[in-house]
Amino acid sequence: MDMNELEQGRHDMLPKPTHDELARQQFARSFKEHIVAKIHPGVRVAYEKRVEPEITKTTGKAPVLRTDVEPFMTKDPHYQMWSALLRTSQEIMWSAAQKPVERDLEGLVRRSKVNGGAKGSLTLDPSLAVPRYLSAVDIHCQPGGYHTEVVSDDVAPGAVYDRAVFIYAMGQMGPDNSDIGRSIIEWLKERRPGFEPARILDMGCSVGHSTVAYAEQWPQAEVQAIDVASPMLRYAHARAESMGKEIHYSQQNAEGTNFEDNSFDLIVSSILLHETSQKSIKNIIAECHRLLKPGGIMVHAETPPYAGMEAFDAFMLDWDTVNNNEPFWRRSHEIDLKQLAADSGFDPDKEFEEMASSAFQVAKAKRSNKFQGGDFGGGGFWFLYGAEK
Ligand SMILES: C[S@@+](CC[C@H](N)C(=O)[O-])C[C@H]1O[C@@H](n2cnc3c(N)ncnc32)[C@H](O)[C@@H]1O
Repeated sequence: MDMNELEQGRHDMLPKPTHDELARQQFARSFKEHIVAKIHPGVRVAYEKRVEPEITKTTGKAPVLRTDVEPFMTKDPHYQMWSALLRTSQEIMWSAAQKPVERDLEGLVRRSKVNGGAKGSLTLDPSLAVPRYLSAVDIHCQPGGYHTEVVSDDVAPGAVYDRAVFIYAMGQMGPDNSDIGRSIIEWLKERRPGFEPARILDMGCSVGHSTVAYAEQWPQAEVQAIDVASPMLRYAHARAESMGKEIHYSQQNAEGTNFEDNSFDLIVSSILLHETSQKSIKNIIAECHRLLKPGGIMVHAETPPYAGMEAFDAFMLDWDTVNNNEPFWRRSHEIDLKQLAADSGFDPDKEFEEMASSAFQVAKAKRSNKFQGGDFGGGGFWFLYGAEK
Protein backbone atom coordinates (compact mmCIF):
# COMPACT_ATOMS: atom_id res chain seq x y z
CA MET A 1 0.00 0.00 0.00
CA ASP A 2 1.15 3.52 -0.72
CA MET A 3 1.58 5.24 2.66
CA ASN A 4 0.10 8.37 1.13
CA GLU A 5 -3.19 6.52 0.79
CA LEU A 6 -3.28 5.15 4.32
CA GLU A 7 -6.08 6.69 6.41
CA GLN A 8 -6.52 6.56 10.13
CA GLY A 9 -8.52 3.60 11.49
CA ARG A 10 -11.92 4.61 12.87
CA HIS A 11 -13.03 3.99 16.44
CA ASP A 12 -15.93 5.37 18.49
CA MET A 13 -13.99 8.26 20.03
CA LEU A 14 -12.58 9.71 16.81
CA PRO A 15 -14.81 12.61 15.71
CA LYS A 16 -16.19 12.15 12.22
CA PRO A 17 -15.06 15.18 10.22
CA THR A 18 -17.36 16.99 7.83
CA HIS A 19 -16.32 17.22 4.16
CA ASP A 20 -14.64 20.59 4.71
CA GLU A 21 -12.98 19.57 7.95
CA LEU A 22 -11.52 16.49 6.30
CA ALA A 23 -10.34 18.55 3.32
CA ARG A 24 -8.55 20.87 5.74
CA GLN A 25 -6.90 17.94 7.53
CA GLN A 26 -5.86 16.37 4.25
CA PHE A 27 -4.36 19.67 3.18
CA ALA A 28 -2.35 19.77 6.45
CA ARG A 29 -1.00 16.30 5.70
CA SER A 30 -0.23 16.97 2.01
CA PHE A 31 1.44 20.24 2.92
CA LYS A 32 3.73 18.39 5.32
CA GLU A 33 4.37 15.62 2.78
CA HIS A 34 5.40 18.30 0.29
CA ILE A 35 7.80 19.87 2.79
CA VAL A 36 9.34 16.47 3.60
CA ALA A 37 9.65 15.21 0.04
CA LYS A 38 10.35 18.36 -1.96
CA ILE A 39 11.86 20.94 0.36
CA HIS A 40 13.76 19.02 3.03
CA PRO A 41 16.25 17.41 0.58
CA GLY A 42 17.34 20.89 -0.52
CA VAL A 43 18.41 21.74 3.03
CA ARG A 44 21.21 19.16 2.82
CA VAL A 45 22.17 20.40 -0.65
CA ALA A 46 22.37 23.96 0.69
CA TYR A 47 24.50 22.70 3.57
CA GLU A 48 26.91 20.74 1.40
CA LYS A 49 27.22 23.25 -1.43
CA ARG A 50 27.05 26.54 0.42
CA VAL A 51 27.13 26.37 4.18
CA GLU A 52 29.73 23.72 4.99
CA PRO A 53 32.38 25.32 2.70
CA GLU A 54 31.61 28.68 4.27
CA ILE A 55 32.04 27.28 7.81
CA THR A 56 35.34 25.68 6.87
CA LYS A 57 36.54 28.86 5.18
CA THR A 58 35.48 31.15 8.01
CA THR A 59 36.52 29.06 11.01
CA GLY A 60 39.46 27.23 9.47
CA LYS A 61 38.04 23.80 10.36
CA ALA A 62 35.29 21.46 9.28
CA PRO A 63 32.15 21.45 11.47
CA VAL A 64 32.08 18.71 14.10
CA LEU A 65 29.19 19.64 16.39
CA ARG A 66 25.67 20.92 15.77
CA THR A 67 26.78 24.16 17.44
CA ASP A 68 29.40 24.60 14.68
CA VAL A 69 26.61 24.41 12.08
CA GLU A 70 23.91 26.45 13.78
CA PRO A 71 25.14 30.08 13.39
CA PHE A 72 25.73 29.58 9.67
CA MET A 73 22.83 27.32 8.74
CA THR A 74 20.17 29.46 10.41
CA LYS A 75 21.13 32.30 8.01
CA ASP A 76 20.69 30.15 4.91
CA PRO A 77 17.58 31.12 2.88
CA HIS A 78 16.64 27.57 1.91
CA TYR A 79 16.89 26.38 5.52
CA GLN A 80 14.87 29.41 6.63
CA MET A 81 12.14 28.58 4.10
CA TRP A 82 11.99 24.91 5.20
CA SER A 83 11.94 25.86 8.88
CA ALA A 84 9.23 28.52 8.49
CA LEU A 85 7.04 26.21 6.40
CA LEU A 86 7.48 23.36 8.87
CA ARG A 87 6.49 25.55 11.80
CA THR A 88 3.47 26.76 9.80
CA SER A 89 2.49 23.17 8.97
CA GLN A 90 2.59 22.33 12.69
CA GLU A 91 0.19 25.19 13.47
CA ILE A 92 -2.13 24.26 10.59
CA MET A 93 -2.12 20.64 11.77
CA TRP A 94 -3.30 21.47 15.32
CA SER A 95 -5.94 23.84 14.07
CA ALA A 96 -7.25 21.30 11.50
CA ALA A 97 -7.37 18.57 14.15
CA GLN A 98 -9.23 20.88 16.55
CA LYS A 99 -12.14 21.82 14.27
CA PRO A 100 -14.24 18.63 14.43
CA VAL A 101 -13.39 18.18 18.12
CA GLU A 102 -14.73 21.65 18.95
CA ARG A 103 -17.89 20.98 16.94
CA ASP A 104 -18.53 17.53 18.45
CA LEU A 105 -17.24 18.10 22.00
CA GLU A 106 -20.54 17.44 23.77
CA GLY A 107 -20.99 14.20 21.86
CA LEU A 108 -17.39 13.17 22.56
CA VAL A 109 -17.75 13.69 26.30
CA ARG A 110 -21.00 11.70 26.21
CA ARG A 111 -19.43 8.86 24.22
CA SER A 112 -16.45 8.75 26.57
CA LYS A 113 -18.80 7.70 29.36
CA VAL A 114 -20.31 4.75 27.50
CA ASN A 115 -19.14 1.54 29.11
CA GLY A 116 -17.48 -0.44 26.35
CA GLY A 117 -17.52 -3.65 28.36
CA ALA A 118 -13.81 -4.39 27.93
CA LYS A 119 -13.35 -4.44 31.73
CA GLY A 120 -10.57 -1.89 31.73
CA SER A 121 -10.54 0.89 34.32
CA LEU A 122 -9.92 4.60 34.73
CA THR A 123 -8.66 6.07 38.01
CA LEU A 124 -8.25 9.84 38.10
CA ASP A 125 -6.56 11.83 40.85
CA PRO A 126 -7.74 15.46 40.80
CA SER A 127 -5.15 16.31 43.47
CA LEU A 128 -2.22 15.37 41.21
CA ALA A 129 -0.26 18.45 40.13
CA VAL A 130 0.62 18.75 36.45
CA PRO A 131 4.42 19.22 36.42
CA ARG A 132 5.63 22.67 35.42
CA TYR A 133 7.62 21.22 32.52
CA LEU A 134 4.24 20.43 30.94
CA SER A 135 2.12 23.34 32.12
CA ALA A 136 4.57 26.17 31.33
CA VAL A 137 4.53 25.72 27.54
CA ASP A 138 2.11 24.56 24.86
CA ILE A 139 4.22 21.46 24.23
CA HIS A 140 5.01 20.94 20.52
CA CYS A 141 2.67 23.87 19.81
CA GLN A 142 -0.37 21.84 20.94
CA PRO A 143 -2.79 24.53 22.14
CA GLY A 144 -3.33 24.04 25.89
CA GLY A 145 -0.99 21.05 25.93
CA TYR A 146 -2.16 17.68 27.22
CA HIS A 147 -3.79 18.78 30.44
CA THR A 148 -6.04 21.81 29.80
CA GLU A 149 -9.72 21.24 30.53
CA VAL A 150 -12.36 23.65 29.27
CA VAL A 151 -15.56 21.66 29.95
CA SER A 152 -16.14 19.18 32.74
CA ASP A 153 -14.92 15.65 32.02
CA ASP A 154 -13.05 17.09 29.06
CA VAL A 155 -11.57 14.74 26.46
CA ALA A 156 -10.74 17.36 23.81
CA PRO A 157 -6.92 17.30 24.18
CA GLY A 158 -7.01 13.52 23.69
CA ALA A 159 -9.20 13.71 20.60
CA VAL A 160 -7.07 16.47 19.08
CA TYR A 161 -3.84 14.60 19.84
CA ASP A 162 -5.15 11.34 18.36
CA ARG A 163 -5.89 12.96 14.99
CA ALA A 164 -2.89 15.31 14.99
CA VAL A 165 -0.40 12.47 15.52
CA PHE A 166 -1.73 10.75 12.41
CA ILE A 167 -1.37 13.93 10.34
CA TYR A 168 2.04 14.74 11.86
CA ALA A 169 3.40 11.30 11.03
CA MET A 170 1.69 11.38 7.62
CA GLY A 171 0.31 7.91 8.33
CA GLN A 172 3.78 6.46 8.94
CA MET A 173 2.87 5.34 12.45
CA GLY A 174 0.14 3.07 11.07
CA PRO A 175 -3.67 3.36 11.01
CA ASP A 176 -3.82 3.40 14.83
CA ASN A 177 -0.61 5.41 15.42
CA SER A 178 0.83 2.40 17.25
CA ASP A 179 4.20 2.21 15.50
CA ILE A 180 6.35 2.92 18.55
CA GLY A 181 4.70 0.26 20.71
CA ARG A 182 4.75 -2.25 17.87
CA SER A 183 8.41 -1.50 17.13
CA ILE A 184 9.28 -2.13 20.81
CA ILE A 185 7.33 -5.40 20.68
CA GLU A 186 9.14 -6.56 17.52
CA TRP A 187 12.48 -5.67 19.09
CA LEU A 188 11.60 -7.58 22.27
CA LYS A 189 10.48 -10.61 20.26
CA GLU A 190 13.89 -10.68 18.61
CA ARG A 191 15.93 -9.96 21.75
CA ARG A 192 13.91 -11.97 24.23
CA PRO A 193 12.27 -14.81 22.34
CA GLY A 194 9.43 -16.30 24.32
CA PHE A 195 9.20 -13.28 26.69
CA GLU A 196 5.71 -13.30 28.21
CA PRO A 197 5.37 -10.40 30.64
CA ALA A 198 2.65 -10.95 33.21
CA ARG A 199 2.49 -7.28 34.24
CA ILE A 200 3.23 -4.31 31.97
CA LEU A 201 3.41 -0.59 32.73
CA ASP A 202 3.24 2.07 29.99
CA MET A 203 4.47 5.42 31.33
CA GLY A 204 3.23 8.66 29.74
CA CYS A 205 0.68 6.68 27.73
CA SER A 206 -1.25 9.67 26.31
CA VAL A 207 -4.27 8.31 24.43
CA GLY A 208 -2.89 4.78 24.47
CA HIS A 209 -1.57 4.52 20.90
CA SER A 210 1.19 2.17 22.04
CA THR A 211 -0.62 0.77 25.09
CA VAL A 212 -3.23 -0.95 22.93
CA ALA A 213 -0.44 -2.71 21.02
CA TYR A 214 0.90 -4.27 24.26
CA ALA A 215 -2.60 -5.40 25.27
CA GLU A 216 -3.00 -7.00 21.83
CA GLN A 217 0.39 -8.67 21.89
CA TRP A 218 0.08 -10.06 25.42
CA PRO A 219 -3.68 -10.52 26.06
CA GLN A 220 -3.02 -12.53 29.24
CA ALA A 221 -0.95 -9.73 30.79
CA GLU A 222 -2.25 -7.07 33.17
CA VAL A 223 -1.62 -3.79 31.37
CA GLN A 224 -1.33 -0.62 33.48
CA ALA A 225 -0.89 2.77 31.82
CA ILE A 226 -0.25 6.10 33.49
CA ASP A 227 -0.25 9.74 32.49
CA VAL A 228 -0.45 13.03 34.39
CA ALA A 229 -3.11 14.52 32.10
CA SER A 230 -6.70 13.56 32.87
CA PRO A 231 -8.21 14.51 29.45
CA MET A 232 -5.76 12.16 27.74
CA LEU A 233 -6.64 9.36 30.14
CA ARG A 234 -10.41 9.78 29.79
CA TYR A 235 -10.03 9.60 26.02
CA ALA A 236 -7.53 6.70 26.24
CA HIS A 237 -9.89 4.70 28.44
CA ALA A 238 -12.90 5.29 26.19
CA ARG A 239 -10.83 4.51 23.08
CA ALA A 240 -9.54 1.24 24.55
CA GLU A 241 -13.02 0.21 25.67
CA SER A 242 -14.42 0.92 22.22
CA MET A 243 -11.66 -1.30 20.80
CA GLY A 244 -12.40 -4.05 23.34
CA LYS A 245 -8.99 -3.79 25.06
CA GLU A 246 -8.73 -4.29 28.81
CA ILE A 247 -6.30 -1.62 30.02
CA HIS A 248 -6.05 -0.02 33.45
CA TYR A 249 -5.43 3.70 33.13
CA SER A 250 -4.53 5.83 36.11
CA GLN A 251 -3.52 9.44 36.63
CA GLN A 252 -0.05 9.27 38.11
CA ASN A 253 3.31 10.93 37.75
CA ALA A 254 5.92 8.50 36.41
CA GLU A 255 8.45 10.10 38.74
CA GLY A 256 6.72 8.48 41.73
CA THR A 257 3.81 6.05 41.39
CA ASN A 258 1.68 4.13 43.86
CA PHE A 259 2.63 0.70 42.47
CA GLU A 260 4.53 -1.75 44.66
CA ASP A 261 8.27 -2.46 44.49
CA ASN A 262 9.36 -5.28 42.14
CA SER A 263 5.91 -5.58 40.55
CA PHE A 264 6.37 -5.27 36.75
CA ASP A 265 8.04 -7.52 34.17
CA LEU A 266 8.07 -4.82 31.50
CA ILE A 267 8.04 -1.04 31.76
CA VAL A 268 7.82 0.97 28.56
CA SER A 269 7.53 4.56 27.48
CA SER A 270 7.37 6.13 24.05
CA ILE A 271 8.51 9.67 23.41
CA LEU A 272 7.96 10.57 27.06
CA LEU A 273 11.46 11.32 28.36
CA HIS A 274 12.30 14.20 26.00
CA GLU A 275 9.25 16.13 27.21
CA THR A 276 10.31 16.06 30.84
CA SER A 277 13.05 17.91 32.72
CA GLN A 278 16.52 16.57 33.51
CA LYS A 279 15.56 16.02 37.12
CA SER A 280 12.37 14.27 36.11
CA ILE A 281 14.17 11.86 33.76
CA LYS A 282 16.40 10.81 36.67
CA ASN A 283 13.35 10.29 38.88
CA ILE A 284 11.57 8.27 36.19
CA ILE A 285 14.51 5.91 35.60
CA ALA A 286 14.93 5.44 39.36
CA GLU A 287 11.19 4.71 39.61
CA CYS A 288 11.54 2.10 36.85
CA HIS A 289 14.28 0.42 38.89
CA ARG A 290 12.06 0.36 41.96
CA LEU A 291 9.08 -1.05 40.07
CA LEU A 292 10.79 -3.73 37.96
CA LYS A 293 10.93 -7.31 39.16
CA PRO A 294 14.45 -8.78 39.15
CA GLY A 295 14.95 -9.93 35.54
CA GLY A 296 12.40 -7.37 34.33
CA ILE A 297 13.19 -4.91 31.55
CA MET A 298 12.52 -1.22 30.85
CA VAL A 299 12.44 0.11 27.27
CA HIS A 300 12.11 3.81 26.47
CA ALA A 301 11.68 4.80 22.81
CA GLU A 302 12.97 8.18 21.67
CA THR A 303 14.81 9.78 18.78
CA PRO A 304 18.58 9.09 18.82
CA PRO A 305 21.14 11.02 20.91
CA TYR A 306 23.29 13.63 19.18
CA ALA A 307 26.57 12.01 20.23
CA GLY A 308 28.20 10.33 17.27
CA MET A 309 25.86 11.98 14.79
CA GLU A 310 27.11 14.08 11.87
CA ALA A 311 27.04 17.78 12.86
CA PHE A 312 24.40 18.56 10.21
CA ASP A 313 22.12 15.69 11.28
CA ALA A 314 22.33 16.69 14.94
CA PHE A 315 21.56 20.30 14.00
CA MET A 316 18.47 19.22 12.04
CA LEU A 317 17.25 16.86 14.75
CA ASP A 318 17.58 19.73 17.22
CA TRP A 319 15.02 21.78 15.26
CA ASP A 320 12.21 21.02 17.70
CA THR A 321 14.00 22.56 20.68
CA VAL A 322 13.73 26.13 19.49
CA ASN A 323 11.07 25.92 16.80
CA ASN A 324 8.44 23.54 18.17
CA ASN A 325 8.08 24.37 21.87
CA GLU A 326 10.11 21.40 23.07
CA PRO A 327 12.30 23.08 25.72
CA PHE A 328 13.76 19.82 27.08
CA TRP A 329 14.39 18.16 23.72
CA ARG A 330 18.05 19.23 23.41
CA ARG A 331 19.16 18.26 26.90
CA SER A 332 17.37 14.93 26.66
CA HIS A 333 19.44 14.13 23.54
CA GLU A 334 22.68 14.96 25.36
CA ILE A 335 22.30 12.86 28.52
CA ASP A 336 24.91 10.27 29.49
CA LEU A 337 22.44 7.39 29.43
CA LYS A 338 24.80 4.73 30.76
CA GLN A 339 25.59 6.88 33.75
CA LEU A 340 21.89 7.59 34.26
CA ALA A 341 21.12 3.85 34.39
CA ALA A 342 24.00 3.24 36.80
CA ASP A 343 22.95 6.13 39.05
CA SER A 344 19.45 4.64 39.19
CA GLY A 345 20.68 1.28 40.43
CA PHE A 346 20.93 -0.66 37.14
CA ASP A 347 23.97 -2.77 36.31
CA PRO A 348 25.70 -0.72 33.55
CA ASP A 349 26.42 -3.99 31.70
CA LYS A 350 22.68 -4.55 31.40
CA GLU A 351 21.99 -1.11 29.94
CA PHE A 352 21.34 -0.84 26.19
CA GLU A 353 21.06 1.88 23.55
CA GLU A 354 19.93 0.57 20.17
CA MET A 355 18.17 1.55 17.00
CA ALA A 356 15.09 -0.56 16.33
CA SER A 357 13.34 -0.77 12.97
CA SER A 358 9.89 0.68 12.59
CA ALA A 359 7.36 -2.14 12.78
CA PHE A 360 5.60 -0.98 9.65
CA GLN A 361 7.06 -2.77 6.65
CA VAL A 362 5.82 -0.17 4.22
CA ALA A 363 7.45 2.52 6.26
CA LYS A 364 10.70 0.58 6.23
CA ALA A 365 10.64 0.28 2.46
CA LYS A 366 9.97 3.97 1.95
CA ARG A 367 12.18 5.55 4.56
CA SER A 368 15.95 5.83 4.72
CA ASN A 369 17.91 4.37 7.61
CA LYS A 370 19.06 7.79 8.68
CA PHE A 371 17.04 9.67 11.22
CA GLN A 372 15.90 12.79 9.43
CA GLY A 373 15.40 15.55 11.95
CA GLY A 374 12.67 18.11 12.23
CA ASP A 375 9.86 16.80 10.13
CA PHE A 376 9.56 13.04 10.73
CA GLY A 377 10.43 12.55 7.08
CA GLY A 378 13.24 10.05 7.48
CA GLY A 379 13.84 7.46 10.09
CA GLY A 380 11.95 4.24 9.87
CA PHE A 381 13.82 3.64 13.12
CA TRP A 382 13.34 4.33 16.82
CA PHE A 383 16.09 4.75 19.39
CA LEU A 384 15.58 2.39 22.32
CA TYR A 385 17.15 3.04 25.70
CA GLY A 386 16.74 0.70 28.60
CA ALA A 387 18.13 -1.84 30.98
CA GLU A 388 17.37 -5.17 32.56
CA LYS A 389 17.16 -5.34 36.33
C1 LIG B 1 4.37 12.38 23.51
S1 LIG B 1 3.19 11.85 24.62
C2 LIG B 1 3.40 10.08 24.68
C3 LIG B 1 2.85 9.29 23.52
C4 LIG B 1 2.48 7.87 23.86
N1 LIG B 1 3.41 7.23 24.76
C5 LIG B 1 2.34 7.04 22.59
O1 LIG B 1 3.02 6.03 22.44
O2 LIG B 1 1.50 7.39 21.77
C6 LIG B 1 3.84 12.26 26.22
C7 LIG B 1 2.83 11.98 27.35
O3 LIG B 1 3.54 11.90 28.56
C8 LIG B 1 2.78 12.50 29.58
N2 LIG B 1 3.72 12.85 30.66
C9 LIG B 1 4.68 13.78 30.66
N3 LIG B 1 5.37 13.77 31.82
C10 LIG B 1 4.81 12.78 32.58
C11 LIG B 1 5.09 12.26 33.85
N4 LIG B 1 6.05 12.76 34.61
N5 LIG B 1 4.33 11.24 34.30
C12 LIG B 1 3.34 10.72 33.55
N6 LIG B 1 3.04 11.17 32.33
C13 LIG B 1 3.77 12.19 31.83
C14 LIG B 1 2.10 13.67 28.91
O4 LIG B 1 0.97 14.10 29.62
C15 LIG B 1 1.80 13.07 27.53
O5 LIG B 1 0.51 12.54 27.49
